[in-house]
Amino acid sequence: MHQRVRGLSLTGKIALVVLSLIPIYYISYQIQLADLAWLPRWPTSRVDTTTFAHQWLETELLDPFDRTPIRAYCASSSWRPNLIFNVPSPIGGFGNIRARLLDFVFFAIEAGAAIVLPGMIIRSEVDIHDIWSGSHGNFSFMFDEDHFIRSMADACPQMRIHKLWEVERAVTTVEGIYPPRSRRVDIGGEACSWAASSEQLDRWLSDRDVDNNTLTMINVDHTIWEVDTLSLPEGFRENFPMVLRTSLETRRYAGLVMANLASKHELDIKASDELHQEAFYGAHLRTESDTVAAGWFLPPTELEYGVDFTAQTDAYLAHATQNRLQAMYVATGNETEFDRFVEKAANYVPPIEILSKWTLLNSSDAEALSKLHWDQQALVDYEVMMKCSVFGGFAKSSFSFGIAVARNAWLEGHGRPIGHAWRMKEIDPHVAYDDGLSRILGRNQLNEEKCPRGCWP
Ligand SMILES: *[C@@H]1O[C@H](CO)[C@@H](O)[C@H](O)[C@H]1NC(C)=O
Ligand SMILES: *[C@@H]1O[C@H](CO)[C@@H](O)[C@H](O)[C@H]1NC(C)=O
Ligand SMILES: *[C@@H]1O[C@H](CO)[C@@H](O)[C@H](O)[C@H]1NC(C)=O
Ligand SMILES: *[C@@H]1O[C@H](CO)[C@@H](O)[C@H](O)[C@H]1NC(C)=O
Repeated sequence: MHQRVRGLSLTGKIALVVLSLIPIYYISYQIQLADLAWLPRWPTSRVDTTTFAHQWLETELLDPFDRTPIRAYCASSSWRPNLIFNVPSPIGGFGNIRARLLDFVFFAIEAGAAIVLPGMIIRSEVDIHDIWSGSHGNFSFMFDEDHFIRSMADACPQMRIHKLWEVERAVTTVEGIYPPRSRRVDIGGEACSWAASSEQLDRWLSDRDVDNNTLTMINVDHTIWEVDTLSLPEGFRENFPMVLRTSLETRRYAGLVMANLASKHELDIKASDELHQEAFYGAHLRTESDTVAAGWFLPPTELEYGVDFTAQTDAYLAHATQNRLQAMYVATGNETEFDRFVEKAANYVPPIEILSKWTLLNSSDAEALSKLHWDQQALVDYEVMMKCSVFGGFAKSSFSFGIAVARNAWLEGHGRPIGHAWRMKEIDPHVAYDDGLSRILGRNQLNEEKCPRGCWP
């Protein structure tokens, strides 16, 4: 035996030492686990609401934000110092706007263009189906402007970001709307290469007599989920969307909602969790009046299937029970619908507690939040849903898909098998997506066509 050991290489000897230590580590690990069981999950008495909220907001689902892949990507683009991209008036709720802005900033990176800090059309609160005719909101209506400017300066320093009022007078604005092509999957079938799209941009500009020496602004078509995100270099797809963060004001409410959920309910929720794994179900109850106006509940076809209040709530309750979750956070922009759900769940066995931002915020915070716009209130739900244990959403909603796809990136990041999330419909034709962490009910042809490749996490 001694002879054999002496005969071993250095690596062999190290391996032998390591192997003999394993049982010791194993035993001390077991002891540590036993020790930890004595600790309270969250020392309620010592951590106040504000501290919890603050810590909770510091941890994001897809942490850490790695700027390296974005830096590399921006460095590989060919920058045009005199070209500015502007996206006039993107429309829709948060799911739409977020997707449109990410597509837009991505196309600008591809073109090597500066951008005008985008804004959006604010939905009418009198008729929430009207997303077209409202006034213009600036970037900070939904997003954290400082975070975006700082993150881009760090991750993509080549790109300049202008305010519209700063450049409006100083630039030549070209007539027409430029249709970006790079990595688009909706035109021509194949994802368009960088070189081909750069040539197409050169042609588009020279057709309009734009030279490279004049500061020029062009209006860019707004698209949603048109970039083949799966063709991007590793790390870019997951990290690039993190430059967009919901506004500080609404994030603050999300932090408080979670602090109250953690302190008032016996749930396993730590402020430092990227995702609260066995705590609560997140249900996106998408039945507000605009869904009816948009025809989401028309008679079903093979590719379209609307899920009404009864079917959504039935499915969410069953799905939560199946996952042994007894608390359900409901995201909805309609309090009457929420009350209906509470009433329905009261008779449900096993009992499930139904919660919302309105039940979890204290009276003064709830009142302050109620003064914000309908679409801003939804941002609180977005932040909470991102980290819920199991998520249930609706296939007609880009908001639902945005959440599911981000959570799927978390799954991938944790080496958990994804399975056949998009092929769930082969088993249940009324479910568009299910990866174990998120299930999307109903069917929608457009979203199901675009999202698998086009959705940003
Ligand atoms: C952006 O809009 C908000 C109101 O939604 C306003 O308070 C703020 O001043 C605006 N910022 C700029 C730069 O226009
Ligand atoms: C303008 O710059 C771009 C990118 O550097 C280049 O591809 C293009 O040929 C230039 N156009 C002209 C007219 O010089
Ligand atoms: C809210 O739901 C009720 C039915 O529960 C409906 O009558 C009302 O129009 C809805 N309002 C909005 C803004 O969704
Ligand atoms: C609600 O909580 C906030 C902290 O977010 C606190 O400042 C405020 O005093 C509380 N209001 C009530 C009525 O408890």
